[in-house]
Amino acid sequence: MARREQEHHTLPIPNGWFAVGWSRELQTGDVKPLRAFGQDWVLFRTRSGQARVLDAYCPHLGAHLGEGGRVVAESLRCPFHGWQFDGESGRCTAIPYCERIPDAARVGALPTQEKNGMVFAWHHAQDKPPDWDFPVLPEIGDPEWSEPRTFELEVPVHVQDMHENNNDPAHFQFVHGMLNVPESSVSIDDDGRTMHMQHTSDQDTPLGRFRTTLSRVSWGLGLASVRSTGIPGAGLLLYSSTLPIEAELSVSRWLLTTTLNIVDIVGEEFMNGVTQGVMQDLPIWSHKVHRRAPVLCEADTHLAEFRRWAAQFYCRPEPAAANPEDA
Ligand code: FES
Ligand SMILES: [Fe+2]
Repeated sequence: MARREQEHHTLPIPNGWFAVGWSRELQTGDVKPLRAFGQDWVLFRTRSGQARVLDAYCPHLGAHLGEGGRVVAESLRCPFHGWQFDGESGRCTAIPYCERIPDAARVGALPTQEKNGMVFAWHHAQDKPPDWDFPVLPEIGDPEWSEPRTFELEVPVHVQDMHENNNDPAHFQFVHGMLNVPESSVSIDDDGRTMHMQHTSDQDTPLGRFRTTLSRVSWGLGLASVRSTGIPGAGLLLYSSTLPIEAELSVSRWLLTTTLNIVDIVGEEFMNGVTQGVMQDLPIWSHKVHRRAPVLCEADTHLAEFRRWAAQFYCRPEPAAANPEDA
């Protein structure tokens, strides 16, 4: 066996809320094939405006509902024989040439919701319903904040490894060229799921040198916001959701906005800084293995903490990282 395969541990796809698209790119009546969570789905918007995600393959003769399916009120009509499936429950609601609908005529349906400009679907490896939620961010759509700029990027890395990067202050110096390892702190809400992380460092900005704090909030492994504070009177917000297309192929969607008073001064730099940061991480992500039990040093406390926190988003918890004391 090749060495990389021996060293690499493939994590399963975690449970949680993940963005499957931008709200603005899904108009009423739109029907799109969707690859997510290692399966084929169909994403569509019903006549009442609900974004829905159903299993791609019709239980009848197996047509792909996203390839020619049509929205009919709150249902999706199969392109092959016209059976209709309710967007919320996945149940067959009509067969145009038959009165009686078989009990088994249904497709899988994912819980969905829309917030902060994105369409989210809930993934659970055992199909359990959502047991947590995440907030609307007040900055998005606020007239004092700029029209959000967005970008997305497909990366050949597991969503957990992408997230782990944020709890890894030491790499900021080596990968992202920061002068020092930033001072960092981590806290977890009483619910056990929401994680807060802060990095504080001196930053040279187009407005001068400031001691700025990046405050990150994570809701599960696929969704986070980062606010930058410390430049007087100015606010910057980054919001991102990373969808596992396959276990080890992800698409990250990013949305950036700043207060209007600085958008013309730092808007461009902010956007470029984020995209450059991801590009710097990319070569590491593309070639690394995932270590199930990494050897950590005493100073890697946030990494050990991250692995413990991340384990709850799987049905069978992944073991926590080796204790730094053992290193
Ligand atoms: S395959 Fe879908 S209705 Fe026949
Ligand atoms: Fe990074």
